[in-house]
Amino acid sequence: MIKIRVPATSANLGPGFDCLGLALNIWNEVSFESAEKLSYLVSGEGAEKLNKGTRNLLTKAYTLLHETCGQKMSGVQICAHNEILMSSGLGSSAAAIVAGLFGANEMLGKPLSKNHLLKLATEIEGHPDNVAPALLGGLVVSVMAREEIITRRYEVPEMTVVIVKPIVDWLTRTARAVLPKSISRADAVYNIGRAALVVDALRNGDLELLQKIMDDRIHQPYRLKHISGGIAAYKTAKQFGAAALSGAGPSIIVFVDPRNAERAKTEIQTVFAERGIESRGIITKPSSAGCIAID
Ligand code: HSE
Repeated sequence: MIKIRVPATSANLGPGFDCLGLALNIWNEVSFESAEKLSYLVSGEGAEKLNKGTRNLLTKAYTLLHETCGQKMSGVQICAHNEILMSSGLGSSAAAIVAGLFGANEMLGKPLSKNHLLKLATEIEGHPDNVAPALLGGLVVSVMAREEIITRRYEVPEMTVVIVKPIVDWLTRTARAVLPKSISRADAVYNIGRAALVVDALRNGDLELLQKIMDDRIHQPYRLKHISGGIAAYKTAKQFGAAALSGAGPSIIVFVDPRNAERAKTEIQTVFAERGIESRGIITKPSSAGCIAID
């Protein structure tokens, strides 16, 4: 039997649209055990939605890895305990894809390198910014270049992260559909420098710098206005620290001084509550580890 854990991730981090991602200390645990046939059972987050059969992102990735290695799929019992909130902008799809590939690779005796796993994961997900930190941990800059995914991974010192997810209907598909087809040079310039500075600020745990530059003009303004309470919650989050839409949303992520974490969480949740929107709040930190096998 193989047991693995895979972290939640927050992509974009403000201006780093589709290229920056950070692993967080929120985990899904998945076990794989040889069996007569394929079975899949989930407990925790999303169990109701996921326990509806064996066709899902995790089993798709598990199957793809076997095909890539020219191996016949044999029966396997897959059990997952999920802590990553689904449809939240915390990389639950990326975690499922990475878990399926990583688990299959372990079951087959590790025929593929992490780079190869990353390439397959990106093919399924469409962009590397969540799957890369889910696989590698830490802060990851990733770009798709012709035949390969080029990444650089950085350690992030201990920082406190508050996440608030409003319970609203918001699909990643919708979140991409609301984006403009093209952007102005001024907005591109606005983002490029800030994305580079976000990497520097996170590597140094420099909250003051992060707070000044974690802004974006190419996705957040287009998305926040479609998320009920999104603009107000984002503004409130910015009063406490360096805030962004987590991934494609709808969660808001804010890096804060640990002494303000509880208050930031409560006040952001209050913004949603005042609009009749339920929310979930989490206080966490970056994770240096990515997907790993555990005992
Ligand atoms: N970079 C992606 C986006 C992350 O913003 O759409 C979510 O998949």
